[in-house]
Amino acid sequence: MNRSKSVLLLIGLVVLTTRILAQAPAWTEVAPGVWKAVIGKPEAFDLLKAAGAAPNKEGLAGVGKSGFPLSKTEIAARVQDGKTYLRFPLQKEEQVYGFGLNFQTVHQRGKILQLHVDHFGGKDNGRTHAPTPFYVSSLGYGVFINAARYLNVYAGTGVRTDSKTPPVAKDRNTDKTWASRPYSDAVEILVPAGGVEVYLFAGPTALDAVRRFNLYQGGGCLPPRWGLGFTQRVQRLYDADGVKKEANDFEEKGFPLDYIGLEPGWQSKSYPCTFEWDKSRFPQPKQFVQEMLDKGIRLNLWLNPYVSPDASIYKSILPYTGSHTVWVGAVPDFTSPQARNIFFGQLKKDQVGIGVSGYKIDEVDGYDHYLWPDVATFPSGNSAEQLRQTYGVLAQRYSTDMYRQQNSRTFGLVRASNGGAASFPYVIYNDYYNHEDFITALINSGFAGVLWTPEVRASKTGEEWLRRFQTVIFSPMAMINAWSSGTKPWTYPEVAEQVKQHALLRMQMMPYWYSEFAKYHFEGTPPFRAMNLEPGFKQETKKEAVNENLEQNPYAEAASKEIKDQYMAGEYLLVAPLFTGQTTRKVILPKGKWYDFYTGAYVGNGEVISVTPGLDKIPVYVKDGGIIPMMPARLHAPKAGEVVDIEIRYYGEKPCTYKLYDDDGETFNYEKGAYSWRTITVSKDAAGQVKGNITAPVTGKPNTIGKVTFTGMTK
Ligand code: GAL
Repeated sequence: MNRSKSVLLLIGLVVLTTRILAQAPAWTEVAPGVWKAVIGKPEAFDLLKAAGAAPNKEGLAGVGKSGFPLSKTEIAARVQDGKTYLRFPLQKEEQVYGFGLNFQTVHQRGKILQLHVDHFGGKDNGRTHAPTPFYVSSLGYGVFINAARYLNVYAGTGVRTDSKTPPVAKDRNTDKTWASRPYSDAVEILVPAGGVEVYLFAGPTALDAVRRFNLYQGGGCLPPRWGLGFTQRVQRLYDADGVKKEANDFEEKGFPLDYIGLEPGWQSKSYPCTFEWDKSRFPQPKQFVQEMLDKGIRLNLWLNPYVSPDASIYKSILPYTGSHTVWVGAVPDFTSPQARNIFFGQLKKDQVGIGVSGYKIDEVDGYDHYLWPDVATFPSGNSAEQLRQTYGVLAQRYSTDMYRQQNSRTFGLVRASNGGAASFPYVIYNDYYNHEDFITALINSGFAGVLWTPEVRASKTGEEWLRRFQTVIFSPMAMINAWSSGTKPWTYPEVAEQVKQHALLRMQMMPYWYSEFAKYHFEGTPPFRAMNLEPGFKQETKKEAVNENLEQNPYAEAASKEIKDQYMAGEYLLVAPLFTGQTTRKVILPKGKWYDFYTGAYVGNGEVISVTPGLDKIPVYVKDGGIIPMMPARLHAPKAGEVVDIEIRYYGEKPCTYKLYDDDGETFNYEKGAYSWRTITVSKDAAGQVKGNITAPVTGKPNTIGKVTFTGMTK
């Protein structure tokens, strides 16, 4: 054989081996309907390990068995040059959702993303507060890549020569249907590591796949009851007297308030932080916290984890921090037990130990120009990239642990999260302030295993204030963040009364919100989620004109029809917000009868309706048979074990049952079985009279449910 022939042979062999290396992974069923494949040599540190996530086995068993949801031979993986290449098939009509907390889009097919923890910069490109590497398909399965790395995602963009259903090559000179982005039949993902764990979650529905994903992480979080009440964050330099006055003002004016957030000024220094009280503003922290607790108001403290050279813990923590600083503050390596002991030891001693109820963990996301760079090193040996992808997860995990140790729940805010962290009691927020995009984020949070609040800060007009307020009431955390503006719920007098009524409605609905969060925890169902997860929902309720070009590009067509301004809140409610300047909007009602939340009147079935609710109302609709447990309006959440009367509102005509959750509302005892579900059954008799029943309290379990009454809302 001559030299050039042997070179050719060698090249041929290399090409062949590369092809051969792309293999169908071996899958092991690790829980009912959950499969795992190990590709190459996965890294020791990954998302599930960062979160310390343990599957909720009982919950997973509850979702039921299901067959492997894809064709195994159509999934391919290979490792080359220390990187892992993954490929999953797509059908022509399939849509994909997820890939983290996106703000502007719900349909992800056709996207190219780099999943990277960052502050959202105004574009859905993968850089976001929670770039969870999970997607769910409209065909009813989900895929999770368990890597604490920046992942490149081609969500149906590359067209392969070996595609089974390739698009037709078209002549742009003559063919008007030529498209710059031809149809692709695969999701491909590049993991910058020599191996990775991949999980596949079966349906049969997309919601089932999401539920299995959440349950595999331990289930969603269960906030304390007070966490679902109202919270006000005060201006950044408030002092103890200012905070007390704020609480008194709420009380006097009859606005609900469960917790107050203190912004940077509670600390002696911030950006970087000391994690110590500023004694000029808070001379007696212990007494102050106690006084607030006696008023029924809890405190939540802002921090970022970057340690000021003036902090008392600075010297001791320094050996356990990264090579680079953030605002010249040391960055604790939260994967190092020493760093954690010192850091959380300080919070425990100075704040949690005197009754502080939670934290707002800021700046753990980005931007690049102030966070540690990717060239930074950390004493644990974990890379800057791995720390960036998990810093928010680690902060949530170990701060929750402090509260678990004293058996009291917390509910706080965090600006970064990732896959694996669904069970942590934290809500994501940011500095961006586009109301429409905030609602799209709320929709997408349900695909990403996180919670999101469309927080209210300030507004140009009373109208905008009220419209924003209406949506935060129908979200995981009802909050005004006045850190900069100093706004109060009553700041816009022309809408103050409406704002108050909405805040009181939030309180009345607490039994519903609490039960829906319990379902997030025990059953994996996100309390706030996309219409796409709702049975009977189809975007094109009316056949729209067929555009030939779009037919050739299913993802482009689908993207043009995505619904990003209405969402499901709990089992029964459909929320369709209005934004400033709007007086009327379209609402897409899934199949089945729907009723007006406020009046009980029938509004439609599987159709698009147009509504003009007036400024005072946010349109909310209830599914037929909807059961909404409410309590009397009040200013604070019920205390641990406090007995509360319940009014069950019933909508429509279908006989229905509802699972009402109950526990002490404040401790982790529910994790040891100290909870119960009471079954509510409601139907209408021949004369149209509502007949309701609730099962007896469970012996030996907490019982906070007093007198129960039933109200038929639909006359
Ligand atoms: C920002 C945060 C705001 C507020 C502010 C205080 O980073 O997003 O909500 O807390 O810091 O300085």
